[in-house]
Amino acid sequence: MWWRDAVLYQVYVRSFADANGDGHGDLPGVRSKLDYLEWLGIEALWLNPVHPSPDADWGYDVADFTGVHPDFGTIDDLDALVADAGARGIRILLDLVPNHTSDRHPWFADPTKRDWYVWADEPNNWESTFGGSAWTRHPEVGRYYLHNFLPEQPDLNWWNDGVRSAFEEILRFWFDRGIAGFRVDVAHALVKDRLLRDNPVAGRAADRREERVYNMNRPEVHDVYRRWRELAREYDPERVYLGETWVGDPHELVKYYGDDDELHLAMNFPFVQAELAADELRPILERWESVLPKTAWPVWCGSNHDLVRFPTRWCAGDEAKIRCALLILLTIRGTPILYYGDEVGMEQVEIPEDEQLDRAHSRDGCRTPMPWTREPDGEWWLRWGDTTRNVEDMRADPTSILHLCRDLIVLRRELRGGYAPLDAPRGVWAWRRGDSGVVAVNLSDRAAKVRGVDGTIRIDTARGREGEAVAGAVELEPWQGVVVLPQ
Ligand code: GLC
Repeated sequence: MWWRDAVLYQVYVRSFADANGDGHGDLPGVRSKLDYLEWLGIEALWLNPVHPSPDADWGYDVADFTGVHPDFGTIDDLDALVADAGARGIRILLDLVPNHTSDRHPWFADPTKRDWYVWADEPNNWESTFGGSAWTRHPEVGRYYLHNFLPEQPDLNWWNDGVRSAFEEILRFWFDRGIAGFRVDVAHALVKDRLLRDNPVAGRAADRREERVYNMNRPEVHDVYRRWRELAREYDPERVYLGETWVGDPHELVKYYGDDDELHLAMNFPFVQAELAADELRPILERWESVLPKTAWPVWCGSNHDLVRFPTRWCAGDEAKIRCALLILLTIRGTPILYYGDEVGMEQVEIPEDEQLDRAHSRDGCRTPMPWTREPDGEWWLRWGDTTRNVEDMRADPTSILHLCRDLIVLRRELRGGYAPLDAPRGVWAWRRGDSGVVAVNLSDRAAKVRGVDGTIRIDTARGREGEAVAGAVELEPWQGVVVLPQ
């Protein structure tokens, strides 16, 4: 499967590249950066939603699942991107939002499609992910509709066959146009309890008032993915579904892979939310490795459009730490997803309150314009962050984070085989990838030595020791990582 070897790259289209100079990134902009993405070694792009939307939740309130938002261009622009990217061996994945629509979607206004949404005479105790009750009274209908997110994002009723077939048509529409797959938004939450039972009240230690038992992770959601997988198979085995699966318990999370007949990849968020520390990341990864069946393949990321970027969250901007984090993401077993800008260590941007556009949890700071050059390129929809770390300068500097990232992308193809941990001092994480190589990374402030390593250093995050022979043990400076190959 191509996606086992590939590095995916998440493009927040509105902030990536602006071809028409209107301060919003667009699809021709993405197309203009394909040379760069090919140079970096990227083999697939996941585009955040590109469909028409009133943008109450920046594209995640879709008003037409088979159209293109005028801010981003036209469907011809999308076709052209798919074709040009394809010519370079880069596939395009779209973001599919099947849990809800915009309240301006024609379905929501259509009285014959009332049952396509979830209604109740009285709200139950479910809370919206964005805070407050998950129910809003519809003045004309005189009943309450469910919205797990903003009131402008009514939840679809996945017990309704019309909804199911509408999405099968949407999948076919895009597969027919050459889309390689989908990132499935809130994949764990499509199906709700049919009886709309109240959620149990959470224990005092919990960060919310209720345990999400009846509005998320319902067993019936798996029927949907089995059907979708069959549909993808009608095309070819290479189409891929990547689930946004916010499920903490690995035994529950693994169910999204089914018996190799549901989603191809399910994101592991406990890993993303952990600290950049050996005793945090390592146990999460090892637990996941122990739970995944042979047929399943992990997927990893450090940043996305909902979270504080990892160079800030994990690394507090420290360059040595950013290099270590990239080394981990690109050498553990699984498919890595880089969020645009990760490759240059792009940081979270502080957005003053009066400039904030996101109504949920102020996620604007991870969605700012891509720093292509040191000189910010005009006024954009969101302010620029620090552009000291930018593509142009780093591309010209072989010692930069960007070159490290690119070299790791090349090297990861040589790292085959399973994950097997190596004994390492506290604060250090070291593992073998089958017989193909050893990765050792010192996530501590003290120098350390990892024993049982022989070969040649092929990549050093500090770039000074590549080519050095290692016999029996490798010494690491604080926040230094290496990949050692046997020869
Ligand atoms: C997902 C998206 C997020 C969006 C939410 C509602 O979590 O990643 O950006 O706000 O779904 O669609």
